[in-house]
Amino acid sequence: MSGLLPVAASTQADKVDLIFYSLLVLAGLITFLVFGLILFFAVRYRRGSRASRANMPKFLSKEIEIGWTLATLLTFLFVFWWASSADLSALVPPKGALDVHVLAKQWMWKVEHSNGAREINELHVPINKPVRLLMRSQDVIHSFFVAAFRIKQDVVPGRENQTWFQATKLGTFPLLCAEYCGTDHSVMRGRILVMRPEDYAAWLTAQPEGDDLAHRGAALFVSSGCSGCHAGSSKVHAPKLSGLYGRTVQLSDGRTVIADDAYIRDSILQPKRDIVAGYEPIMPSFSGILDDGEVQSLIAYIRAQRGPPETRK
Ligand code: CUA
Repeated sequence: MSGLLPVAASTQADKVDLIFYSLLVLAGLITFLVFGLILFFAVRYRRGSRASRANMPKFLSKEIEIGWTLATLLTFLFVFWWASSADLSALVPPKGALDVHVLAKQWMWKVEHSNGAREINELHVPINKPVRLLMRSQDVIHSFFVAAFRIKQDVVPGRENQTWFQATKLGTFPLLCAEYCGTDHSVMRGRILVMRPEDYAAWLTAQPEGDDLAHRGAALFVSSGCSGCHAGSSKVHAPKLSGLYGRTVQLSDGRTVIADDAYIRDSILQPKRDIVAGYEPIMPSFSGILDDGEVQSLIAYIRAQRGPPETRK
């Protein structure tokens, strides 16, 4: 049945295809059954035919009725469980995945690797290695769609959307934006280049060093004024951010939160929302002052200052 779907080039693709073809066969069988019965009855009970129109035997009207109702109900419950559980596992990236930052904007995909290498409308990845995409949009909703990997993830402004994949075939695969996002939506395309691990390593080291996300974040931390209060040396009574990432934070209203990307982002843009216990709500909002890329850099900077794993709670 190859040719019906795009080439399958990720671990996820095989699962999705199995579900797709199974549903196709199931739906096909049911369609044939229903239309076969329609045809059969139309001929058998046509006007003038001598077929008996007496009441059905009792077991037909009861046991068979209950039987086929239950059978279809259970079949479709099973299909629902099967398809959705395969989909849920697709949401959780395996440990040790390669992190890649993606920034979507009208009308391009900007990509940044953890060592600072940057690309536009291209993404180089190694084969057989899970890759986690941390995605943000600078303006409107875009959707990261790679048919060959069977992944499609909306990128919604104001939040970080994640998806992941593990490529299983070498080659170049088209990346499309699958959410209408304005005039040039149709040209918001890119390519995923899946390489041998050694080629990927060579490619990565050959990229210009660039100032990586965390480094840019460090510069912004000073130039935007964050360091005035939040640097370790500051005299202002404000939460210090070194070692914060990944920790549990006690809030003044009694709740606790994990200091993850979303929390740090909210703290920058809506600082009055979650006040850390023991501090005054004096921080101004940076909404409209910092753009999404800048917030992403600041988060990367704070993430880079997390403690070693054994000291983290
Ligand atoms: Cu971006 Cu459509």
